[in-house]
Amino acid sequence: MTAPHTAPEPEDIRFADGAELKEALREVDYIADDEFAVVVHLATALERPLLLEGPAGVGKTELAKSLAEASGRKLVRLQCYEGLDDNRALYEWDYAKQLLHVQMLRDRIGEKMGAFDDVAEASQFLAAQDFGLYSEKFLSVRPLLEAILSPDPVVLLVDEVDRTEESMEALLLEVLAEGQVTIPEVGTFTARSAPWVILTSNDTRELSPALKRRCLHYHLGYPTPQRERDIVTARAPEVEEAVAADVVDLARTLRQLPLRKSPSIAEVIDAARAAVVLKSTGVAVSSQAAVRDILLTALLKYTSDVELVRTRLSGEQPFPADGGETAPAGPVERVTVASRPANTTTAVFRGHGGRDRGGIGAGRQGRR
Ligand SMILES: Nc1ncnc2c1ncn2[C@@H]1O[C@H](COP(=O)(O)OP(=O)(O)OP(=O)(O)O)[C@@H](O)[C@H]1O
Ligand SMILES: [Mg+2]
Repeated sequence: MTAPHTAPEPEDIRFADGAELKEALREVDYIADDEFAVVVHLATALERPLLLEGPAGVGKTELAKSLAEASGRKLVRLQCYEGLDDNRALYEWDYAKQLLHVQMLRDRIGEKMGAFDDVAEASQFLAAQDFGLYSEKFLSVRPLLEAILSPDPVVLLVDEVDRTEESMEALLLEVLAEGQVTIPEVGTFTARSAPWVILTSNDTRELSPALKRRCLHYHLGYPTPQRERDIVTARAPEVEEAVAADVVDLARTLRQLPLRKSPSIAEVIDAARAAVVLKSTGVAVSSQAAVRDILLTALLKYTSDVELVRTRLSGEQPFPADGGETAPAGPVERVTVASRPANTTTAVFRGHGGRDRGGIGAGRQGRR
């Protein structure tokens, strides 16, 4: 007789400390600073949910994805939105499957029902039957239950939790605090292996103290220039270091202004890629200001922001000195003033100037 085949247990990778986790994250191109790596390590070691708050695009969601990749765990994602309910977050009964099941039993049930002359008796008989409709096999499993039922350890990402109504938090609490889910018709399922839970929030509403109490909390702000440069080169290796440095400087300058939306890391990466394309396609632009204006299309998403920046950068109004009149739109990680003034000729802009006057349009004409 051959031995029964059992699939090898996936290795549950644990990290010894923050430094080891930081390195593992770097290998999957996620660049964390020392403090953040230690906090994430703590959350995994203590198996406590980690609530990440902070402005858009600073790497909250990406942390969960990268943690899953670095640890070899599956990522289970619950995307929150207004109106999210138990049916989408936890489980739903699969009515179509239940109906099919009943239809298959119809003849057998019909035979038994034939024995009753009285409708009330027949109905009582039916009510007392267990057709097995409310068992695990008729459940459509949604992310929270999936994380609990998973035989292998997972990273559970509860993304943008502040978008749900507060009532959803009660549901989350059972999962986060007890590591379990109760389905009235079936019973309570307890997590087979504790998920590492990452919750993210953009702080659009205050989360309940009960939810916060169960989590480690960390505010993820904009990165330091060095870390942002590292992120750009990790995510877009085609970008030269000098170009990355220029785009990062520009973004940091913009973040000092009272914009509707400050440039996120993702937008800085886009702008750096755009700078590389501009350079490689030889789009002729006459000045650093013209290049910068093109890069603004990647960095800014509101006309009013673009106008404000153009006014400020054209020198009509001086830049606020050292953070000046306005605080950055969101906490900045250990802010230092941008190392170079925004209008210094730098690597992004070198090699573009001189030939044509009049920006992109003129450049195209020049090539015809
Ligand atoms: N520390 C980092 N290391 C590597 N890439 C990063 C890092 N932070 C951000 N990024 C890049 O920025 C992108 C946006 O990050 P992410 O989607 O995680 O932002 P977020 O904080 O979840 O924003 P939002 O609040 O809008 O959802 C990522 O896809 C990634 O390319
Ligand atoms: Mg996100």
